[in-house]
Amino acid sequence: MKHIITTVLLCLSLTAAWAQYNILPRPSQLTPGKGELVITSRTTVGAPTDERWSHVARLFADQLATASGLKVKMTNGKGTITFQPSKDASLGPEGYKLNVTPKQILIEATTAKGAFYGMQSLLQLLPVEVFSPQAVSGVKWAVPAVSVRDVPRYEYRGMHLDVARHFMPVDFIKKYIDLMALHKQNQFHWHLTEDQGWRIEIKKYPKLTEIGSKRKETMMGHYGDKKWDGQPYGGFYTQDEVREVVKYAQDRFVNVIPEIEMPGHSVAALAAYPQYGNNPDKIYEVSTTWGVMDDIYMPHEETFLFLQDILTEVIDLFPSEYIHIGGDEAPKKQWKESRFAQELIKKHDLKDEHGLQSYFIQRIDKFITSKGRKMIGWDEILEGGLSPNAIVMSWRGTEGGIAAAKERHQAIMTPGGFCYLDHYQADPKTQPVAFGGFTDLAKSYSYEPTPTELSAEEAKYILGVQGNVWTEYMKTPAYVEYMVWPRAIALAEVGWTPKDKKDFEDFSKRWDVHKKRLDLLKVNYFGAPINDQFQYQWPLKKAAKK
Ligand code: ACM
Repeated sequence: MKHIITTVLLCLSLTAAWAQYNILPRPSQLTPGKGELVITSRTTVGAPTDERWSHVARLFADQLATASGLKVKMTNGKGTITFQPSKDASLGPEGYKLNVTPKQILIEATTAKGAFYGMQSLLQLLPVEVFSPQAVSGVKWAVPAVSVRDVPRYEYRGMHLDVARHFMPVDFIKKYIDLMALHKQNQFHWHLTEDQGWRIEIKKYPKLTEIGSKRKETMMGHYGDKKWDGQPYGGFYTQDEVREVVKYAQDRFVNVIPEIEMPGHSVAALAAYPQYGNNPDKIYEVSTTWGVMDDIYMPHEETFLFLQDILTEVIDLFPSEYIHIGGDEAPKKQWKESRFAQELIKKHDLKDEHGLQSYFIQRIDKFITSKGRKMIGWDEILEGGLSPNAIVMSWRGTEGGIAAAKERHQAIMTPGGFCYLDHYQADPKTQPVAFGGFTDLAKSYSYEPTPTELSAEEAKYILGVQGNVWTEYMKTPAYVEYMVWPRAIALAEVGWTPKDKKDFEDFSKRWDVHKKRLDLLKVNYFGAPINDQFQYQWPLKKAAKK
């Protein structure tokens, strides 16, 4: 009996010890230590003079100062808390070691980016109040002793956001990037163009935003309701704003990948420049209906020049290694009915319209590659033959990713059933209108990005995982947050944590604590206390009646 009680007590104390380590995503290795280090006004923060490293140290000191009022002294080299370069190559470009004893804290990494992730973990070891936007009193700023060694499982840990169906303001984009960085996600896929709106200023083609960024009205409720609100809608980012976002993201070690859709999902561009469509005489209008449109670009030489001009400006704005060109959902009806397209198919000895799509994408690939960048496309770019340098984003299940990896092409996994955060996450009767489907937190968490169909060699081509956020039904930033968090955190853990360390029960316990951090950061996650400032505009009652 005594033995049982001792075991139970030991288990309880171990659980209590572990409960202090609420780091999301879960680190690859974590060994609890004894005691704690308490941060006071005498604490110092040391970092190399290198601009990126001192920037990381400053981010930490600034957040601590905001939440605690403690103005820790910054030093070059060693401090009570030290950010230190490491030569341990096994940490890779993003891993870190974090060692906390009652006397000092040491964060080691081979890059400033690794140090940044160590810093994020350190923040999550502090009391949750460290995420407060203003100074809180009465908190003991203690960090429990611990030894962490943490390396991400996948190099690509992304979040997508469609700002074309509904435009999202720059401040919200920055908050989205902050939250990605908090969860060690490193690729922001910015979906900037669509049938329903063109959202990025292109200097050479001003009508793209003058005409293409505005639509007459917007669908209300579900697609099937066939109701419109009668309200003009618009918005776009100036090139200065784009640069501001890219810089903000760089400061948080997030890469921004622009997506410029082609050959489909291009009605807004055609409304501005109809000469690049199938019928230059047609009055194209920026779409007011969701879905897949027959109007796509016609592969004339002039169209390629137009798209290359656009991509040239985009490539100048975004330092990203990756440039996304869409490629999804391009109906072939117009190419089937076009004499020009059919002659082009014959001229280049292409099999059919899918071959023509492949020809289209290969030309764009060649252009992007000539600029020293890598092209990403949705998995439809496999149809008719994969372009030599293309990276495939697998969304219609995992087949596209599997096929790409088998052809020794890199793939990013975003299958709808797990990674589409526009799906319902609870009983639709209780939810605001969403796209459809059902993907709850447990389902997103359960995703395994490396398909079992791949050999070990082929599996190396799986770059990582991404959550996709299509905003047809998300009119406001608050609504986006409701759909994104915490499912995106589950995907962050899928992307970061070793497979054998994934455990949904453990994740759920950490999420319970993490909610308090997101409350302080004023995030309207699913289940958050409703707050007036979030300006809900949901047709909740309507959805409930269905
Ligand atoms: C997609 O969801 N159409 C890529």
